[in-house]
Amino acid sequence: MNTLKVLVVDDEPGIRSGIERILRNYTVGFPFMAEDFNFRIYEAETGEIGLELIESENPDIVLLDNKLPGIQGIEVLEKINKKKLDTAVMMITSYASLDIAVKATNFGAFNFVPKPFTPQELKSSIESITKHLFLKRMTKEMNKEGKQIRFQFLSVLSHELKSPLNAIEGYLKIMQDKQVGDNLEHYMAMIDRSLIRIKGMRGLIMDMLDLTKLESGKKNREIKSVDLHEIATTAIHTVEPLAIQQNVAINFNAEENICIPADADELEIILNNLLSNAVKYNKNGGHVDLNICQKTDKVVIKVKDNGIGISQENISKLFTEFTRIKTEQTRDISGSGLGLSITKKMIDLYNGQIDVQSQPDEGTEFTVSLPV
Ligand SMILES: Nc1ncnc2c1ncn2[C@@H]1O[C@H](COP(=O)(O)OP(=O)(O)O)[C@@H](O)[C@H]1O
Ligand SMILES: [Mg+2]
Repeated sequence: MNTLKVLVVDDEPGIRSGIERILRNYTVGFPFMAEDFNFRIYEAETGEIGLELIESENPDIVLLDNKLPGIQGIEVLEKINKKKLDTAVMMITSYASLDIAVKATNFGAFNFVPKPFTPQELKSSIESITKHLFLKRMTKEMNKEGKQIRFQFLSVLSHELKSPLNAIEGYLKIMQDKQVGDNLEHYMAMIDRSLIRIKGMRGLIMDMLDLTKLESGKKNREIKSVDLHEIATTAIHTVEPLAIQQNVAINFNAEENICIPADADELEIILNNLLSNAVKYNKNGGHVDLNICQKTDKVVIKVKDNGIGISQENISKLFTEFTRIKTEQTRDISGSGLGLSITKKMIDLYNGQIDVQSQPDEGTEFTVSLPV
C-alpha cells in the first residue's frame, strides 16, 4: 500500500473533518499499478498554516479553499506554483469568479470542486488526481532511467571505438615519420594489425546496426516457414574459415526438414553468434557440437564446445551489452561484447529461452528453445 499525503486548507472545521472521514478508509487502485493508494490527511485552518505544513510535510495533494481568513487560497496556490513542488492542487470553493478560475488554472491547479460536494464527488476527484500523479511520476522516472541507460551505452561505445582508433593512429604516425626506414616490408606487421583493428570496428558497427534495428522495431521481419537444417548449414559455412584457422572441428547433428515459422535472417544471426563464440572461445584442437531437435511444442538448439568455459559469476552478465570477460585466455580475442545481447533479444522476439551451462576450462553449452 502506498500512502499519499493530503492537506486540507479550509477555515470551516466541518469541511476538514468531513473530508478526513470520507478519505480515512478510502483506497484507489488501477490495474496498471502494482499497489493501491490510501490517504493520510493533514488539516490547516488558514493559508499561513497551510504553507507551513506544505514546507514541513511535502503533501502530494492539497485541497484548497479560496476564501480564507488571512491570505487567500489563490495566493497559497501561487506560492506552491513558484516553488515548482510536485503537488497536485484541487480548489474547493463555494463560488469561484471567472477571474479566480483563470488565475487558478494559470497557477496550475489540477481542478475545481464546488462546495458543497458529496462524498462520491470528492472520491472521484481524488481518484483522478491519484492517477494523474502516479502517471506523471512514473513518466518522469522512466525518462530518467532511459537517459541513464543511453548514457551508459554511448560511453561504453565511445570507449570501445577509441582504443582501436588510437592504435591505428599510432601505426600511421610511425609510418608517416618512416621510423623504421624506407623499406615498406618493415611496416607490414603494423599494416596487418591496423587492418585487424579496422575489422574489429566494422564488426562493432555491424552489431550496433543489428541492435539499433532491433530496438527501434524498424527491422523488416519476414516470417515464413524456414528450414533450420538449411540455416544451420549456412551458419556453419560462415564460421568454417575461422574454425579451420583455430583448428576447431564442428560436428552437426540435426534431422532434415525441421521447419518453423520465423525470419531466416534472425535465426542465422542467432546461430552465427553462438557458433562463432563456440569457435572463438575454444582451444586448439577443440570441437563444437551443434544439435538441433524437434520436440512436440518447440525446437531445441544446442551449441556445445569444450573451450575455455565461463565462471559461474560471469554467466549472469553474459547477455548484457558490451560484456566481455577479461582473462588471460580471452586477451587476444576480439569482439564487440554485443553478440549475446543481440542473440537474447532475437530469441525474446519468439518468446523463446536461452540457457547456459558452463565449467571453466571444460566448456560451455548454450541451449535455445523456440516454441513452435
Ligand atoms: N562459448 C563461450 N565460451 C566461453 N566464453 C564465452 C562463450 N560465448 C561467449 N563467451 C564470453 O561472453 C562474452 C560475450 O559474448 P558476445 O556477446 O558474443 O561478445 P563478443 O564475442 O563480441 O565478445 C565474450 O566476450 C566471452 O568472454
Ligand atoms: Mg560473440
